[in-house]
Amino acid sequence: MEQMPYQPHQEAVQKIFPSAIAYTASAEPVATTTTDWTASLPVLHGQCVTLRELKRSDAPSLLALLTTEEVSRFISPPPTTLVGFEQFIEWTHRQRTAGHYACFAVVPQGSDVAVGIFQVRSLEANFTTAEWGFVIGSAYWGRGLFAEGSEMVLEFAFETVGVHRLEARASVENGRGNGALRKAGATLEGTLRQSFLKDGRYHDQHLWTILDCDWRAEGGRRAEFRLASSQHTAPEVAITIH
Ligand SMILES: CC(C)(COP(=O)(O)OP(=O)(O)OC[C@H]1O[C@@H](n2cnc3c(N)ncnc32)[C@H](O)[C@@H]1OP(=O)(O)O)[C@@H](O)C(=O)NCCC(=O)NCCS
Repeated sequence: MEQMPYQPHQEAVQKIFPSAIAYTASAEPVATTTTDWTASLPVLHGQCVTLRELKRSDAPSLLALLTTEEVSRFISPPPTTLVGFEQFIEWTHRQRTAGHYACFAVVPQGSDVAVGIFQVRSLEANFTTAEWGFVIGSAYWGRGLFAEGSEMVLEFAFETVGVHRLEARASVENGRGNGALRKAGATLEGTLRQSFLKDGRYHDQHLWTILDCDWRAEGGRRAEFRLASSQHTAPEVAITIH
């Protein structure tokens, strides 16, 4: 697919985090509000995870959990300071208000601590084609948060936002990221050669897609997912926030 001309805010999902220059920009985007979610994101409740709008007080836990080498190895560098995360969070609100983008905090059941994020951003006008991305603290991997959270984000993208085609890019070396996308029902369309520059080296990325019609046709599988995810209990992980 031909990419739109470069705009700083559009780096958010493909690389997970935008460059600092994007979210420190003072100019507010022009509001193109079309639906209610642009005023405030819905709170999505699952059996083991809740997805909600990011808030400024999420910055400490996101800084602690998303900046480890294990978590950030295959994504663009996250902010490295508390202020950097606070600016990122404010940027997500501006982008949501403008109707370009939605970013959910991943909150395990029984807590109000954000341990990750799911993002959806528009690639074409009116969100017909969009891209999603996700990152969760490694202490919470394999615990059902991604499985259930991704189901809710897909429903949000296809039913609330009206996305037709949802893309995701994952570095080919990112076994877990690609495994997660496969598990979410995405189709592997191909490899984008040397499409991601990280640490001075270009990386190939897999391009995964989900079409709204495919997602609807897989409705039964989604029900199975809900059943499976209900067997996960709330993670018991102590988070150290510095
Ligand atoms: C991507 C991420 C959110 C997924 O969350 P998670 O809790 O690890 O996901 P899950 O464990 O539910 O699913 C991952 C799947 O990949 C599989 N997997 C793990 N390592 C794998 C590998 N090397 N090759 C293939 N599959 C692999 C897992 O077995 C699992 O499938 P299963 O549940 O059927 O066994 C999380 O790993 C993360 O934050 N990673 C760092 C950031 C990142 O890479 N983001 C994605 C960018 S596209």
